[in-house]
Amino acid sequence: MSSPMIQRHTNTGIFMHWFNAGCWLFLLATGLGLLQNPDLQPLGAWYPGLLRAVFGGGDGLLGAHIAVALLWLAVWAGYYLRFAGRYAVPFLVSIFTLDPRRDLQWIVKKNFQMTLGYKMMARLVRPLGWDGRLPEQEYYNAGQKLAAQVMVLGSLVLAVSGLILAASSWIIDTPNVPWVQWSITIHYLAAGLTFAIVLVHIYMAAIAKEERPALWSMFNGQVPAAYAEHHHKLWYDKLSK
Ligand code: HEM
Repeated sequence: MSSPMIQRHTNTGIFMHWFNAGCWLFLLATGLGLLQNPDLQPLGAWYPGLLRAVFGGGDGLLGAHIAVALLWLAVWAGYYLRFAGRYAVPFLVSIFTLDPRRDLQWIVKKNFQMTLGYKMMARLVRPLGWDGRLPEQEYYNAGQKLAAQVMVLGSLVLAVSGLILAASSWIIDTPNVPWVQWSITIHYLAAGLTFAIVLVHIYMAAIAKEERPALWSMFNGQVPAAYAEHHHKLWYDKLSK
């Protein structure tokens, strides 16, 4: 018998997620194309050349990167202003509320379980005094919370350093002032670190089979109750009450 469905995401949440993902992937692709230094270019010299051809030169490429970044920021600012109390703040509270013992245990066990299987995980964690079961999780599991924290903070750092860089090419006369130089380094570091986490996020969400119901929920908003009970028991229990 198929499990009844329960609501996991609102239409607004789904729209913001895919809008965010689309902007992110565009900004990453164009940002990589802006790196002309062959020592820093991971894809080879053909890539910046190709993007410059597509966008009508370096200025066009930079213009497209900044335009999408400003659109992304404006939509997020509007979302926070309009939905702060209803969605945005509860989301931030849920990803920044940690239960260190439970979350650490889940992360250690989950890594062993995914790479070595349940049996080996149970054997490896026994010396720590833990049993072979994954601790029950809330609306987001510990891995999702950590990933979301890095994505939110990384995006914030990218936005601030990006605004400084945009201002340096348009408003500030001397692009060589130290804080503009620092913004370049910080912008690259934040992009690299956040993208590393986004890759793990995409793998877990789109490729890992056991998370498939969560992937569909990012389109139709719902997950099977059995999935919620198994993966997010604390959230499921709260809903059942
Ligand atoms: C093709 C790319 C992507 C796929 C397939 C994907 C998939 C998903 C799925 C399935 C969820 C729901 C997880 C759940 O309900 O438990 C989710 C949530 C989330 N994703 Fe993505 N994602 C992608 C790109 C991104 C990017 C680029 C970012 C940010 C830089 C991002 C940030 C988030 C955040 C913060 C959440 C939690 C918030 C929420 O539930 O709305 N995702 N993603």
